[in-house]
Amino acid sequence: KEALILDMDPGIDDAIALSIALTRPEFDLKLLTGVAGNVAVEKTTANLLKLEEFFNRTDIPVAMGAKAPLKREFKDASYIHGESGMPGYDFPELKHQPIDDPAVEAMHQVLSDAAEPITIVATGSYTNVALLLIKYPDIKSKIKRFILMGGSLSGGNVSSVAEFNIFTDPDAAKIVYESGIDITMIGLDVTLKALLSNQSIENVAEIGEVGKMISGVMTAYNDIEAAGKPMHDVNTILFLLHPEFFTLEDHMVYVITEGPAIGGTIADTQDRWSNGKLNAHVAVDINTKAFEDWFLAEIPHMNQ
Ligand code: BDR
Ligand code: CA
Repeated sequence: KEALILDMDPGIDDAIALSIALTRPEFDLKLLTGVAGNVAVEKTTANLLKLEEFFNRTDIPVAMGAKAPLKREFKDASYIHGESGMPGYDFPELKHQPIDDPAVEAMHQVLSDAAEPITIVATGSYTNVALLLIKYPDIKSKIKRFILMGGSLSGGNVSSVAEFNIFTDPDAAKIVYESGIDITMIGLDVTLKALLSNQSIENVAEIGEVGKMISGVMTAYNDIEAAGKPMHDVNTILFLLHPEFFTLEDHMVYVITEGPAIGGTIADTQDRWSNGKLNAHVAVDINTKAFEDWFLAEIPHMNQ
């Protein structure tokens, strides 16, 4: 089993990524942490708790993280993810609560207690992770790798160059990319290809209560491409289960923290700056047919 900490901002695609993670036997989920991003951190954390209750997984601790990016002003994406961050399905009122420790302390504790280094998956901005690295630099040896949704080598979704998670907190992203920890970057280069078609969104409503929930939230999701809706964060979990669906290239990736390209991620593909240094495995392509087939086959399993 792979031990994981999931740091998220649900968020509709985060919610679906988490739904799969909560129901796959391959994972040992040590901790879920909420971060400000798609909506405010109180809401993203509440959505983590709601999904734990939905899937009867309240055994995993949930901690609330940063309310705002390191330096920039916080701006949410409720225009894409709704006011709650998880609209389109009627989740019952919450019965349990986050733990008292804030996310950074909870992450530090879980990593310190672990016998083996742990993988951190981040599908929101990397504010919590950056704060962890700032406050506890020695904890790096306990982080096996980062699997990060964010960035793009081929154009942005909030500006011509910037992807939302990086744009929201570029200063945090810079710290993470300069940390020296093994990074897999799963950005828009692949996530804008991993779509769920409108027909599939309609069809999955018939696959039990989980299908109804997924169909409901995906219908309410305002991220729309011609052939369907992008499942951005789901790709991080898919990557852990089926890395063979992805094409990766190793690059030196820089994060732009000011000016008109703020939030951009640039790979030094000609090695003009980096003297051969590399800091990320970048997902540059995905088998889209395998993605949709896998996703649709997951849903019945998630009902059990
Ligand atoms: C990313 O931004 C968020 O809105 C999504 O949840 C995803 O993590 C896509 O750019
Ligand atoms: Ca997200």
